[in-house]
Amino acid sequence: MTEPDLIPVPLTADHPEGTLTLDARTALDAGPGTEGTARWLRAVLGAATGLSLPDGTGPGAIRLRTSPGTEEEYGPEGYRLTVDGDGVLIDGGGPAGLFWGAQTLRQLLGPDAYRRAPLRPGADWELPYTTVTDRPRFGWRGLLLDVSRHFMPKEDVLRYLDLMAAHKLNVFHFHLTDDQGWRVQIRRYPKLTEDGAWRARSKWGHRASPLWDDTPHGGYYTQDDLREIVAYAADRHITVVPEIDIPGHSQAAIAAYPWLGNTDAVDTGALTVWDTWGVNPNVLAPTEEVLRFYEHVLEEVLEIFPSTFVHVGGDECPKDQWKASPAAQARIQELGVGDEDGLQSWFIRHFDRWLADRGRRLIGWDEILEGGLADGAAVSSWRGYGGGIAAAEAGHDVVMCPEQQVYLDHRQDGGEDEPVPIGFVRTLADVHRFEPVPPGLSEEAARHVLGTQANVWTEVMENRGRVDYQVFPRLVAFAEVAWSALPAPDARDTEGFLRRMETHYRRLDALGVAYRPPTGPTPWQRRPGLLGRPIEGAPPNV
Ligand code: ACM
Repeated sequence: MTEPDLIPVPLTADHPEGTLTLDARTALDAGPGTEGTARWLRAVLGAATGLSLPDGTGPGAIRLRTSPGTEEEYGPEGYRLTVDGDGVLIDGGGPAGLFWGAQTLRQLLGPDAYRRAPLRPGADWELPYTTVTDRPRFGWRGLLLDVSRHFMPKEDVLRYLDLMAAHKLNVFHFHLTDDQGWRVQIRRYPKLTEDGAWRARSKWGHRASPLWDDTPHGGYYTQDDLREIVAYAADRHITVVPEIDIPGHSQAAIAAYPWLGNTDAVDTGALTVWDTWGVNPNVLAPTEEVLRFYEHVLEEVLEIFPSTFVHVGGDECPKDQWKASPAAQARIQELGVGDEDGLQSWFIRHFDRWLADRGRRLIGWDEILEGGLADGAAVSSWRGYGGGIAAAEAGHDVVMCPEQQVYLDHRQDGGEDEPVPIGFVRTLADVHRFEPVPPGLSEEAARHVLGTQANVWTEVMENRGRVDYQVFPRLVAFAEVAWSALPAPDARDTEGFLRRMETHYRRLDALGVAYRPPTGPTPWQRRPGLLGRPIEGAPPNV
């Protein structure tokens, strides 16, 4: 038996000589509180293996437990997994830990355990004898998916949740609104999706490209779709954090309801959903009516998403229209906030209090630090580590997602044939050497690093295959960084990780993931002649 090449690498793993055979008689012995994982095992592993895993006990059974001892030692997301002559025991620190243990069991079964039907119906399955103990390094192991720039149909979102679960990622940051499309149904404001969820055409390539795709683009999730997504995620111990952008990245909303914009500075009635990319000048007007509108939106959002954190964006809000708008200038005086940065802060503070009053917490991009951050607010540090360091040292919680390291829209190789090359070269190995906690952070501040997140902005990813290409294989390296207790970057066994990837590529093949092959893009993954925006001279890792 070869090493099972577990990814993310567990805290400890031992593989004594021997194998356990699973066959049609193999029973599932699900202890109290383990029903969710039992259901998942039957549905997913049952489909792949053809084993029905009937209820039962006895020799060779797969036993599922959660125990206080495991929780004490490894936390609620930790687990112990044993495969020996007696059968399989997965003992979680809690239901989440048990589920992550079941994901490890799937890896032990081999790549064909990632298929949806058995290749050889009726065949037995071999599991290597194994003892694993494991727990995550971070509680926030996130993936942001931008479904505004390009809509991702619900079925594909569910597939991404499965892909996250297979890599023990547990926060799905759902970027639902932006200039290029509003994707969440709001009952009170139907035009947000009637008008705001589609555009007549799309820039084809980077914004400097002369090309257009004249296919109308759009789509949105009904509230029931979103409830389904949230429940599907919860079954996989993934929290969905919705993002509703204020006060910038709002052109789609303004196109639907022109009074949301700065009507005395620009003819907002002439705006349509934006069809190109970049930072957009059309931002929300700083009025009480706009606050009420977004409270109403968020009321419906809170009904759908139980997540403690709600993301309100707060990034890239140009101040030109507020400078040009007499009404915005009068507001600055009336509110006594000093200047346009004060208005931005006023927006964020309002929703920080509003969310806190409802038992939730605001999270926003690091620009929300400008003008002072409200108590309890957390920061997604994207413009490098700096915002995250400042926020953490000031006692705010932080999710580290620096664009220089973990923006998966950035190209993953310097070659000529990378499709629509954007940004820095960040290879699979580079991502494996990413360190979410920068050196020099005080111990106390480091405790405010909730975790880390990879962000997928989809301007140049027009379909699922393009998203797969950018996300994989790098999300695999990211998952190991987020989960495993890896040493400092220069001491990391990245070569060993790349060797384990040889097995993992076969898992991704079985899952049908259109990853970037190590040899480079296939012809149908290339986009010859399509302008990107490569940035030379990527900054160092930290
Ligand atoms: C961002 O990339 N503007 C958060």
